[in-house]
Amino acid sequence: MNYILLGPPGAGKGTQAKKIVEYFAIVHLSTGDMFREAKKSNEALSKFLSSGQLVPDEIVINMIKERLEKDDIKKGFLFDGFPRTIKQTEELEIILKSKNLKIDAVFLINIYFEEVIKRITGRRVCECGTSYNIGMIPSKEDGKCDRCGRKLIQRNDDKEDVAKERFTVYGKQTKPLIGYYKKIGLLVNIEGAKDEKDVFEQIKRHIKAKNDK
Ligand code: AP5
Repeated sequence: MNYILLGPPGAGKGTQAKKIVEYFAIVHLSTGDMFREAKKSNEALSKFLSSGQLVPDEIVINMIKERLEKDDIKKGFLFDGFPRTIKQTEELEIILKSKNLKIDAVFLINIYFEEVIKRITGRRVCECGTSYNIGMIPSKEDGKCDRCGRKLIQRNDDKEDVAKERFTVYGKQTKPLIGYYKKIGLLVNIEGAKDEKDVFEQIKRHIKAKNDK
């Protein structure tokens, strides 16, 4: 069971990824999370993330290559936020082929611009990894994490101007992947402007149908 979650920033990839990996007991591979962790000690990375630009392909591909060396990926994995360019897509194919692995489906979370901006600018996150949304999925106590009580913060790249830039970058560099995966029969369209449970049900239904055959 190896999958890719594709979709614009704020589509709900991270939210769905957590549910999918927990339910199906597979490994979550989020390049965004990996870069947010790495940027703490890497000034150059920080610049790409806070401006809404993509990290150069070579850096991304090397990081993924290294990650796929770990044994845990044998359980199955879910890419969240990777690949994001045609170059990354082609390189991923080469890496997987060399390991005798393949992608079973690419879930495209479809969502429109206004909803994305609303979700991103309303997002508040906790260091423990929990994500909230001030308009749609609020914490019980304002500004505090329900799970660990720490203070919630806004990601640097969630300010409106950077969020809009990320959406533009998605349109130019990542959207072409839709045609690529459609052509090879892996693309599965998911209606993203529904509540979290509903979106998860759509993905779960597809995975179960394929694996129950
Ligand atoms: P990354 O972290 O991957 O950001 P992204 O793709 O822009 O996605 P987001 O994390 O913003 O949104 P999401 O789709 O995960 O939505 P979420 O579930 O959080 O990447 C960050 C940066 O790292 C990039 O800009 C780039 O610089 C770099 N990078 C990463 N990967 C790279 C790569 N492969 N190549 C090059 N550079 C790379 O939900 C958003 C909000 O909506 C939350 O508040 C959530 O609570 C809420 N929400 C979720 N679902 C619903 C729902 N159904 N209804 C209502 N609210 C919802």
